[in-house]
Amino acid sequence: MITLNVEVMEPQAIYFMMTSLVVPRPIAWVSTLSACGKRNLAPYSHFTNCSSNPPIIMFSSAGEKDTLRNIRDTNEFVVNVVSDDLKLEMRTTSAEWPSEVDEFEKANLQAADSLFVKPQRVAKARAAMECKLRTIIPMGAGMVVFGDIICFHVSENIIIDGRVDSTRLQPVGKLDASHYATINKIERRDLKSDVCEQVADYRAASPEVYKSRIAKER
Ligand SMILES: Cc1cc2nc3c(=O)[nH]c(=O)nc-3n(C[C@H](O)[C@H](O)[C@H](O)COP(=O)(O)O)c2cc1C
Repeated sequence: MITLNVEVMEPQAIYFMMTSLVVPRPIAWVSTLSACGKRNLAPYSHFTNCSSNPPIIMFSSAGEKDTLRNIRDTNEFVVNVVSDDLKLEMRTTSAEWPSEVDEFEKANLQAADSLFVKPQRVAKARAAMECKLRTIIPMGAGMVVFGDIICFHVSENIIIDGRVDSTRLQPVGKLDASHYATINKIERRDLKSDVCEQVADYRAASPEVYKSRIAKER
């Protein structure tokens, strides 16, 4: 086992280690509008859920970027989910294009209007979340953006029994460097009925126990 003390590591080596070990990361494909109405789209994989009540998500920007500036100026953004078929387009939008470049056009992506915010969403994305800025917190050399989800857009084609099916969403995970992962194996891990009574997620139970719990509650 190699042990590395961060105190003696180069910043770049720390970055490489963190981005190789904290994997796979979901990718927030963030669309924004500049103060003068220019469209912007870029991926951010330092991204996660923070709270579901109220629904808050966060992503972090390694310094000042168009996305961060646009959100500061307009308080709004949309997080699009990157499915496997959109990997290349997503990569195209990550290039350091000048601010005036519209990444929807660069990547040849159709946009769809949002309902509650001005930035559009990626029409082909199987899911997207409209967000309003909650706060931006400086964190080391980066800035963490927290947003309240105002509305979810989810394609009917990825919903089974009222829930999003991961095999149909086909989310892309960011690994180290230019490596990406797609889900190709999903396993159910049912808990025994006496244990699953303690579990908040009803679907942790076997289908029979789940059905009988729902029936009892009705
Ligand atoms: C998959 C992927 C994930 C990325 N994640 C981040 C991230 O979490 N934070 C960040 O600052 N940059 C990240 N980048 C780099 C930005 O996408 C890139 O700097 C982009 O040009 C920023 O665009 P903007 O200036 O239009 O916001 C990522 C790039 C890729 C390809």
